[in-house]
Amino acid sequence: MADQQLISLVERMTLEEKIAQLMQLAVPFFEGAEQSGQITGPMESLGITEEIVHNAGSVLGLAGAKEAIAVQEAHLRSNRLGIPLLLMADIVHGFKTIFPVPLAMGCSWDMELAEQSAKIAAREASVSGIHVTFAPMVDLVRDPRWGRVMESTGEDPYLNSEFARAFVRGFQGDDLSGDVHRVAACVKHFAAYGAGEGGRDYNTVDMSERQLREYYLPAYKAALEEGCEMVMTSFNTVHGVPATGNKRLMRDLLRGEWGFDGVLISDWGAVKEMIPHGVAEDEEEAALKAILAGVDIEMMTPCYVHHLQDLVREGKVEERLIDEAVLRILSLKKRLGLFERPVRGADPALEQEIVFCDEHRQAAREAAVKSCVLLKNNSVLPLKSEKRVALIGPFAASGDILGPWSWTGSKEDAITVEQGLRSKLASDMLLTAEGCDVTSVTEQQLDEALKVANEADVIVLALGEDSEMSGEAGSRAFITLPEPQLELIQHLKPLQKPIVVVLFNGRPLDLHGVLDEADAVLEAWYPGSEGGAAIAELLTGEANPSGRLSMSFPYSVGQIPVYYNHFNTGRPKDAPDAQERYVSQYLDIPNEPLLPFGFGLSYTEFQYGKMMLSAEEMTAKSPLEITVSVTNVGEMAGEEVVQLYIRDMSGEVVRPVQELKDFRKVLLQPGEQQDITFILTEEQLRYHHSDLTYSSDAGEFCVMVGGSSKDTEIRRFRLKK
Ligand code: GLC
Repeated sequence: MADQQLISLVERMTLEEKIAQLMQLAVPFFEGAEQSGQITGPMESLGITEEIVHNAGSVLGLAGAKEAIAVQEAHLRSNRLGIPLLLMADIVHGFKTIFPVPLAMGCSWDMELAEQSAKIAAREASVSGIHVTFAPMVDLVRDPRWGRVMESTGEDPYLNSEFARAFVRGFQGDDLSGDVHRVAACVKHFAAYGAGEGGRDYNTVDMSERQLREYYLPAYKAALEEGCEMVMTSFNTVHGVPATGNKRLMRDLLRGEWGFDGVLISDWGAVKEMIPHGVAEDEEEAALKAILAGVDIEMMTPCYVHHLQDLVREGKVEERLIDEAVLRILSLKKRLGLFERPVRGADPALEQEIVFCDEHRQAAREAAVKSCVLLKNNSVLPLKSEKRVALIGPFAASGDILGPWSWTGSKEDAITVEQGLRSKLASDMLLTAEGCDVTSVTEQQLDEALKVANEADVIVLALGEDSEMSGEAGSRAFITLPEPQLELIQHLKPLQKPIVVVLFNGRPLDLHGVLDEADAVLEAWYPGSEGGAAIAELLTGEANPSGRLSMSFPYSVGQIPVYYNHFNTGRPKDAPDAQERYVSQYLDIPNEPLLPFGFGLSYTEFQYGKMMLSAEEMTAKSPLEITVSVTNVGEMAGEEVVQLYIRDMSGEVVRPVQELKDFRKVLLQPGEQQDITFILTEEQLRYHHSDLTYSSDAGEFCVMVGGSSKDTEIRRFRLKK
C-alpha cells in the first residue's frame, strides 16, 4: 500500500504532471544532459514537449554512472516537485560481464548459478546508474523458429519457474531499499509471448485459458511470488486482445486474482500498436484501452501524454485510475530509496573498480562451463594433449559469442575459442583457419582449412549462427546451420580425422549434417564474455560437461512444435498394439525430437540403482518418498542432473506423458555413490481441470527418474483421496 506521504504528493501534482509520470522516454530525450543539462532528442517526431520531458517518470537505455547522475540531476532541477526519474534498461544476462544467454543458463539446471549471475549483473548495472532491469524473461518456448527462445530458460513450466525465482532473488536481493547494488526486476513478457504462431515474432497467440494457466503462466506467477517489482506486457494477443489492452488478463487476472499491485509497463510501443492490431482506431482509443487494462507506464509512444487528459476531462477515464498508476510508480521509487538518494547506486569510481572485474568474469566462466551441453562424443573428447588440433570455423576467433541483449557488453573483450585453447595447448599443437564465414565461403578459405586440417590429428569446428540470426525479430523458417558451414564439414570429412563441432547458436537447430557427421558436438549457445575460456576447459577435460537440454532439438523444422510434455493422443505410435499406419505419426520423420529435453552427455558415466518407493499409495497427508542411488562409474568427477517426472495415467482432461516435478544436480567423484531422495506431494499432482479448478485426482500415476526425459526407470503408484 502507498503511504500517506506519497498520497499527498500525488494530490499536489497537476493532471499533466501525473500523466507525464506514466511516460517512459529513451535516453536521446535527455542526451547532452551531462554537459548542458538541456534536453534534446527526438521530441519532434513523438510530439513531446519539453514540459513532458521535465515531468517524465522514467528513462530507458541508460548505461553509465556519470551519464545517469547527470540526467537525474538535470531532471531534478527541472521537475517542479523534485520527483526523481526511474532509470531502466535491459540487463538480461549480464551488464558488462556477459553471462551465457538464459537458454544456456536453463541448461545448467543450477539455480544458485542463475541467482549469482543476476546478482553480479545487478551490481554492475546499479553502480552504472540503473535502477530497474527488464528481466527475467520467462516466456515458455516450444518453437525454435522464434528468435527469442535464447532469452527464455526453456520448455518446461516448473524449470522456468525455478529459474524465474532465482533470477528475481539475484536481481532484487531481500532489501531493495537498503542494498543500492541490487535492481528492481521486471518479469516479461506477460503473457505467452513465446507461443506466437509459426514461431514468427510479434505473431498471434491463441490458446485455451486452460493451456495458458497450465503451461504459460506459472513462471510469471513464480517471479511475482518471489517479489518481482514489475511486469512488462507482451506484444501478442491473448484471447484475441493484445495483452497491453487486455483487461481480462491484466486487471482481472494479474491484479485481481494474483493481487499484483506493482508497476505494469508496456513493451516498446505496444500501447500504440493496438492500432495496427486493429483494436484501437487511434492513439486516443489505444490510451483508453491500456489505462483501463491497468498499464501504468507507456514505453516510448505518446498515447497517454497526448490523450489521457482529454479522456479524463470527457469522463471516459476516472482520474482515480491515473492516481493509482502514479502511486504505484512513486511507491517503486520510494522502495528504491530514490527520494532520499536519487542517484542511488551510481558511482563512477566503483564502476571502474567492479564492472568487468576478475571475480565477475570468473563467475561468468563457471556459468558458461555449466551451461554447455555435450550432445555427442565418440570418445574423441576430451582432447588429448599430444594431439595436434586444427581449429577452424567462423566462430574460432569470433567475439560474437555474447548473444542478443548484450548491448552493454563488449565483443572485443570476449575470450574467443582460439584464445581459450591457446591458453591450454602448446603453441605448436594448435593450428587455425577460418574455413568459411557464417553465411559464405570461398575456395581459398576451404583450401586453407584443408591445409591446416591435414597437418592436425583432430579437427575442432567452431560453427553457428551470428547473434543477429536470433533475438528479437530474429525468427527463422529453416533452422539448419547456414549452408557454407555444412559445406565446410563435408569438405573436411574425406580426411577421416576426428571432427569436433562446437556450436554457437540462439536456438535449438536442425542438426542434420552436423550431429550425424561429427564425432563430437558441444552445444555452447552464446556463452558470454568468458565463453572461449570455458569451452577450452571443457574440450581439454579440465572441466566435465554437465549441461542438460532445457529445450528439445527437433528432428526437423517440420516437426515443430515438439516438446517433451506432450499428450499421448488416442493413437500413440509407440503403443504396444499400434497399427502400422493409422497412428499419430509422420510418414517421413520420427515423432521423437532429435535430442530430448533433459538430455546431455558427460565424460564420465552415471549408473542408477533401482528406484525405491516408500509406498504403493500416497495421500495428501502421506507424500511419496522416492529414492534412487546414483553412482559415478567412470574415471572423472562429474555432475549428474537426476530428474523426476510423473505421469497422471487418467485425468479429467488429457495429461502429458511426462511432467518434470523435481531434480537434483549432484557432483560425484569417480566411484562415488549417492542416494537421492525426492518427496512427491499431492500438491505436485494438481492440474487445471476443464472448469479451471486446480486440483489432483485420485488414481494411478507413474513416477520416472533418470538422467534425461527419455532415459528413466518407471514405477507406478496410486493417489488416494
Ligand atoms: C523490446 C523488447 C523488450 C525490451 C524492451 C525495451 O522491444 O520486447 O523485451 O525490454 O523493448 O528495450
